[in-house]
Parts: sequence; C-alpha cells; structure tokens
Amino acid sequence: MYILGLNINHADTSAAIFKDNNLITAVEEERFVRVKHYSQFPFNSIKHCLSEAKINMSQINFVTVNSNPLKSFFRKICYTFYNPKSIKVGLSSLINYEKKFTIKKLLNSVDQNNSFNGKMKYFDHHLSHLNSSSNNFETSVNVSIDGFGDFASCSWGVKKNNIVNIDGKIYFPHSLGIFYQAITQYLGFKNYGDEYKVMGLAPYGEPKYTNEISKLINYKKNFIFELDLKYFTHYKKKIFFIDNNGYPIFANLYSQDLIKLLGSERLKNEELSQKHKDIAKSTQVVFEKILFNLLNDIYKKYKIKNLDLSGGCAMNSAANGKIISNTPFENIYISSNPGDAGGAIGSAVCFISEKLKSNQINGVSAYLGNQYNNISIEKIINRLNLSNKFLIKKLEDDLLFKTIASLISQSLVVGWFQGKMEWGPRALGNRSILADPRNPKMREILNLKIKRRESFRPFAPSILQEEMHEWFELKKSVPHMSEVYNIIESKKSLIPAVTHIDGTGRVQTVDILENFKFYNLIKEFKILSGVPILLNTSFNENEPIVQTPEQAISCFVRTNMDVLVLENWTVSRI
Ligand SMILES: [Fe+2]
Repeated sequence: MYILGLNINHADTSAAIFKDNNLITAVEEERFVRVKHYSQFPFNSIKHCLSEAKINMSQINFVTVNSNPLKSFFRKICYTFYNPKSIKVGLSSLINYEKKFTIKKLLNSVDQNNSFNGKMKYFDHHLSHLNSSSNNFETSVNVSIDGFGDFASCSWGVKKNNIVNIDGKIYFPHSLGIFYQAITQYLGFKNYGDEYKVMGLAPYGEPKYTNEISKLINYKKNFIFELDLKYFTHYKKKIFFIDNNGYPIFANLYSQDLIKLLGSERLKNEELSQKHKDIAKSTQVVFEKILFNLLNDIYKKYKIKNLDLSGGCAMNSAANGKIISNTPFENIYISSNPGDAGGAIGSAVCFISEKLKSNQINGVSAYLGNQYNNISIEKIINRLNLSNKFLIKKLEDDLLFKTIASLISQSLVVGWFQGKMEWGPRALGNRSILADPRNPKMREILNLKIKRRESFRPFAPSILQEEMHEWFELKKSVPHMSEVYNIIESKKSLIPAVTHIDGTGRVQTVDILENFKFYNLIKEFKILSGVPILLNTSFNENEPIVQTPEQAISCFVRTNMDVLVLENWTVSRI
C-alpha cells in the first residue's frame, strides 16, 4: 500500500511517500521551483516521490492532506455569526474549503497517463503537526504552536505507543505565531518567515518595551492565551495571498493601535535603531513568557517529562534552548521539519496509525531528499566543461576529509554537497557552506563572498556530538540545530565566528551514525586545529537551499566560494 502525504494550501508545500509504514522520501516544492516558501501545489515534489518509489500515480492507494476543513467548518460559521467583523475571514475560509476538495484534479495532472484512483484522506492541521516527528520517547507530551491551521493556533496531547491524539486546542483568533509575526512586520521584516531575523536581533537589545508588548498578548490560566485584538487585523480581513510566482504574502497583521503604542513602524530598508533592537528583545521576552507558562501548565496536567514540540513557533530556537531551565520538562525533541512542510509526513502518519493500526513508523530522519552518486556528478562536471575553468579532483574519503579540513583551517570557504538533501529548513551537513569558526573575520568574509545578509545575524556551529559538553551549556544532543545554548565562557573567544553577541550558538551536534562524512570532516578539522567545530550555514545565496549538483555549481560560480565538494569530487578556484 502506497500513501502520499501532502502539505498544501499552506506555505512550504511539500510531499512525502510511504510504502505501508516505511517512509521512502520527503521533499519541499521550493527546492524544485527555486522560490522560497513556495505555496502552490507541489507537482514536482509528487513526481519526485513517485520516481523514488518507482510507481505511477495509479498505484497510490491513499493521499493524505494536513488540513481538514470539515473539522473546523462549524466553528468557523459560528465564529463568523457572532463576530460579523470577521465576515471576510469566514468567506475566504469557505473558498479554501472548496479548493481543498479539488485536489484530485491536480493530482491527475501530475501524471497524464495514469490517473489517481485511490482515496483522499484529510487530517486536522494540528494533529498532523503532532504526528510529524519521530521521537524515540516511549511516552511524550506533543505540543504544536503556529500562526493558524484549521482555525486553531495551538494543540497538545499525549503520545503513547507512537499514537497521539489531541487533548486541547487554542482557537482563532488567538495565536502566539500571529503575535510574533505582527511585530516582525512592524519591525520592517515583511517577508514570510522573517521571524528568525527578530530572534537574531533580540540579543542586541534591552527588554525596555516589555510592559507595552505584554499588552498585546495575555496568558490566562489553564492553557489559555489571548490576544488583545485591537492591536491586530487578522480577525477582520483576508491576510494570506500567493503571488504569481507562488511566493506567500501576508497583509500587515498589526493595527494603528500598535503604532500608537510603540511609535511609527520601521520601513523596510530603514537603518535598525537601538529602539528596534529593544522592541525585538522585548518581543522575544514576552514570547518566551507565554510559551513557558503554557508548557508549565501542560506539564502540571500530564506529569510527563518528555516534550515533543512542533509548528512554526517551534523554530524559535532561542526560546527552545531555555525550555529545560524554565519548565519541569527534562527532554525535548524537535524534528528537522517542525513547520507546515512537516505536515506531509504528519498527515500520512495520522492515516497509518488509523488504518494499519501500526504504532511503528520507519525511515523518518533529517535526510530524506535527492541524492547523487559520483558517477552522475562526473557526467555533470564533464557536461558543464568545469575543467576549463577550475581544478577538478576526485579524492577518496580519507584524503577528502583531510584535504577539505586543511583548506577550511586556512580560512577558505567550502560548499559541501553530499548524501540526501535535508528535510527541513536547516542545512545539517549535506547541503552546507562550511568555514573556520576560529576566524573573527569569517562572518564578514561570508557576507562579502556569498551570503550578503544582515550583519546582525549569527552563523551556526556544528560540533562532534561527544564534544558538546566541553563547549556548550547543554544537557542533550541537538541534531537539528533547533535550540540555542550558551557557549562555555572559556571557549567563546576560540570560536568568535559562531558566537552570537550574547555568547550563544544555535548548535548542531553531529553523530557519526547519522552523518558519517560530515562527522569525519569535523574530526579531521579537530585534529588540525584542536577545535571540534565547523561554521555551518545553508548552501544557497538568497534562494532556497540547493538541491541538485547543477544548482550547487551555479551557486559556486556566481559567488566567491573557494572550493566546492560534490560527493568525492572537488572543484576548486585555486
Ligand atoms: Fe501549521
């Protein structure tokens, strides 16, 4: 039995395919169409899933979707009836309701020769979030927090024997995600997914506006937080659009009352002032306060020490790193893809649990996308005549690790492309740009050579797992770069390129069993430098992370990257 899981009608559309309870592959559409957070139907991702499973569309038995309009239909109608200001929101939801049931037509256009004859299954958006990760806990409390999905912004339930059911929800119009997104927009970061910029800016500020920002959202007892709607607009107008390129666009979510409260908003390219930094810090403080209140109440109810966090708000890595010290939870798991894209796997897992009565899902990992072998890469190198312009070599593993580690230790910047593409927004050592964390100028060098991004944003460290306690104040491994931790005081000056202004790092712990090549490269770097850490940033230049060798080569050629590694092939400017 084949199950195709989809995230559609949200940003970051994606697809995943299972044979029974075994996951074969999962991928996000943005990697194919080269538009960040692409939000239209994932035609290419579905084709990729069919190709990897070696089947055609007629062989798919079930398609699962991480949204169930019926689940919240009557709640939407009732809300609109009692809140006539929200009529536009209600109408746009009904249009979505209609759209979600025309998916069969779209599926049939993926494979013109073989139509889809299976059944469609729709699962609640938050139930899909709660099922999207594959933690190893025997029992956990699973919590999802996002902007909105199926008229809710938060849900929780206990996962036992790998099956989770929703026990409680927070419904529209109240949302921790909308709170953070509204202030992100107010601070001039208008692109979808820009919240991480506010998170990166926060350590440069002081929490001077906490009193003002606390007026926007209030935590009441027993799992309830509420927005003061006078500061927001999302409850009375349509806020989500998709442009002609498939890029998601949000209308401003903040009202004139927020401007009265905090002063005029920052224009898109206006210089960042200390006040903007203070507002970012205050927002982060209020976000964390609400999050910890909620998690503490959830712990009090279930008394389970393992937490699995998902939804867009689970990408607030600064807050995630403080959960253990601010709540009784002792273990946290956050998957490599906790946002909406992860719902492609989540909806399929909901179905597998229900249909197969299976409590075992196999194959979920952080590396689920395309892979290319040395033979196919050689053909691409030859086809593009790279040897005319660059030095091309093929090195066996051991020599490759030694050579590249040595080049990195000489402050060269390396594009590192190997294995299966990551599942999720972080580069975890398979589609990464790597550099020396010891060089205090490396942030500048990277921004000048490749990234051209805001100078306040930090770069992340990847460390050998067994070394993590020597360098970071953490109690557990962090394989998906999902939590920020303090760097140990005496080590900060040794790795300035990955030490944020507040002395923290969004660390990735690298285990030899999860990523053999990346682990061994870092190990060679440690032998040369004494530092078991590499600076690791995503392999891209203001675009989605590269997926194919051709895209990696194009990025290498366009930028001033020094060396490109494609599996065992090296392409070098020197
Ligand atoms: Fe979501």
